[in-house]
Amino acid sequence: MLKLVYEEFSRLFGNEKDSRCFFCPGRVNIIGEHIDYNGGYVMPCAIDIGTYFVIRKNDSSQVRAYSLQFPKLGLISFDINDKTKQKQWTDFIKGIISIFKIDFGFDVVVGGTIPHSSGLSSSASFCAGLAYALISIDNKTIDRIELAKQCRRVENEFMGVNCGIMDQFIVCVGKKDSAILLNCDRLEYEYIPFDLKDYALLIANTNKIRQLTDSKYNQRKQESEEILAILNNNGYSFENLCDIRDDMDKYLSLIDNEILKKRFRHIVSENLRTLKAAKALKEKDIITLGKLLTESHLSLENDYEVTGVELDTLVHAFLNEDDCLGARMTGAGFGGCAIAIFKKSRLVEVKEKVKKIYQDKIGYEPSFYEVSISDGVKEIEYHE
Ligand code: GLA
Repeated sequence: MLKLVYEEFSRLFGNEKDSRCFFCPGRVNIIGEHIDYNGGYVMPCAIDIGTYFVIRKNDSSQVRAYSLQFPKLGLISFDINDKTKQKQWTDFIKGIISIFKIDFGFDVVVGGTIPHSSGLSSSASFCAGLAYALISIDNKTIDRIELAKQCRRVENEFMGVNCGIMDQFIVCVGKKDSAILLNCDRLEYEYIPFDLKDYALLIANTNKIRQLTDSKYNQRKQESEEILAILNNNGYSFENLCDIRDDMDKYLSLIDNEILKKRFRHIVSENLRTLKAAKALKEKDIITLGKLLTESHLSLENDYEVTGVELDTLVHAFLNEDDCLGARMTGAGFGGCAIAIFKKSRLVEVKEKVKKIYQDKIGYEPSFYEVSISDGVKEIEYHE
């Protein structure tokens, strides 16, 4: 992919002199779903599919940008002071220029290997990658946690997506062959070696065209805020729902709404599961890790209700196979990807079987990816 991006850069901008190359990974969340915005623990990994950039300053106030993913839009040019949104990929660039106060023009070509709508964080990958590249070509540096926080602001304040910090954090701070256990309230984290021994992490994409994802996501966030308000109106003063670690029944009795009760149950239990999963991963207890993944899915399916028939079909098809230690949806849900932990020797056969089950029920095929766990955003070299 880098080769393609590099060649496109020289074709569009005459030569590639002084240009620099950057890569920002995507991410897969192992466990800790829909609790980053509730101040909980999450355990994601950065992965080796992501976004590539070739970029240089152009001694003007113009941005000239081209994406290999949107070739029909061609080369897009605009002034760095132009903040008007045009409902296209370059709006993100305008958000980055605004939040990071970029005051120089640049030429950039972008190419990504994260499938569109897969829920593997192509937008965090794009945003953190471009912001890091711009800061680097301006001969400045930025703390990686600060980079993640500012990229979240681009999503929240400029793009109108009320996401939590998990995706931006992991693509900035990720480390090869490690998951991170991140406390999303205090932004404290630790690396845990991601070693599944004879097992592999399989990622399966539902290939569902996602619609309404943002509005349903925002609805869950709002429900969380309602629950927090109910508890605090009853004399508590919690900052986050994930501050609650025990006595779940005592709090449940204060919530007089069946849907909110279910949401609360997921949030509290998922946070505890994530801590248990981190312990299991540290102890290389892959069997326990797998069980926790499956419990997480059931909670997201039944209590948080963010899965849908496509993800449920994939996950239950995996779980019906021998040698599957656990499976769950990953990311925001409503489509996107599922993950499963399988004996390495069974992968080829399992993919064929699950593909058929899914195709028969849903009407189209899923895709499968085997990824490596990668470092966070970084500058890379291009060698012809
Ligand atoms: C999306 C958001 C994250 C997180 C997950 C669900 O990926 O961007 O902040 O909330 O959904 O865990």
